[in-house]
Amino acid sequence: MHAPSSPTMAPKSSFILYTLLTFSSLFFHAISAIDYNVINETANTPGGIRFTNEIGIPYTKQIMGEINNFIWFNVFQQNDPSDRKPVDSVNVYILEFDGAEAITWGNNNINVSSIYLKGYEGDLKWEFTSLLYHEMTHVFQWNGEGHAPIGLVEGVADYMILKAGYAPPGFAVPGQGDRWDQGYDFTARFLEYCDGISAGFVALNKKMRFDFYVKYFEELTGKPVDQLWREYKAEYGQ
Ligand SMILES: *[C@@H]1O[C@H](CO)[C@@H](O)[C@H](O)[C@H]1NC(C)=O
Ligand SMILES: *[C@@H]1O[C@H](CO)[C@@H](O)[C@H](O)[C@H]1NC(C)=O
Ligand SMILES: [Zn+2]
Repeated sequence: MHAPSSPTMAPKSSFILYTLLTFSSLFFHAISAIDYNVINETANTPGGIRFTNEIGIPYTKQIMGEINNFIWFNVFQQNDPSDRKPVDSVNVYILEFDGAEAITWGNNNINVSSIYLKGYEGDLKWEFTSLLYHEMTHVFQWNGEGHAPIGLVEGVADYMILKAGYAPPGFAVPGQGDRWDQGYDFTARFLEYCDGISAGFVALNKKMRFDFYVKYFEELTGKPVDQLWREYKAEYGQ
């Protein structure tokens, strides 16, 4: 913070400073207005105990706030709250279920499998953080009122992981995959390529609020998606 350069400027500077502080506290208040809830329903199972020992509720709530900000500001560029999906809380449940690592349901709920947590080999806290980047993206992303291809929706969720530096081992390398909407890490790598052509490309999310058209790719990059995909494959020699 800089001192006023001359005494006569002090009152004005103080006023500006006061105004800035007022605005920034409103701003931060707005950002933290979302409640992050973590419900540990399997505390006494091996997975629940592992969750408590290696991850814990305080870390989970902290990382949920960081992930939320990353999604809004770094990738979706939704600086204006009216662009954002109206969500006032996000709930993470640690539960015993089989068949998936985690699932996002309803408007704002994420179930994480304690069976998956129990069996994971490696840095569980890191893996759990990576998983939350993906699942929380589902909470905050638009899907064109259900008209966006599921592969794109999953690709955006994995793109978030990639941009955050949480791509797990085995994540697709650039150029991999058969179709732009193949999903997950394959589509994430393609979105990364599109971002190289048109910076901030994945803020395309904003256009997906009420509908989805494949021409959004052309509107943002100047090229139809099929051409982009061909050029992407060619660039990586595939
Ligand atoms: C989960 O719940 C159990 C009992 O319900 C509690 O002992 C444990 O501390 C909880 N874990 C965390 C991370 O809060
Ligand atoms: C997630 O867990 C809750 C129980 O806490 C359950 O009611 C809900 O159906 C589960 N959702 C899915 C999609 O399995
Ligand atoms: Zn998903």
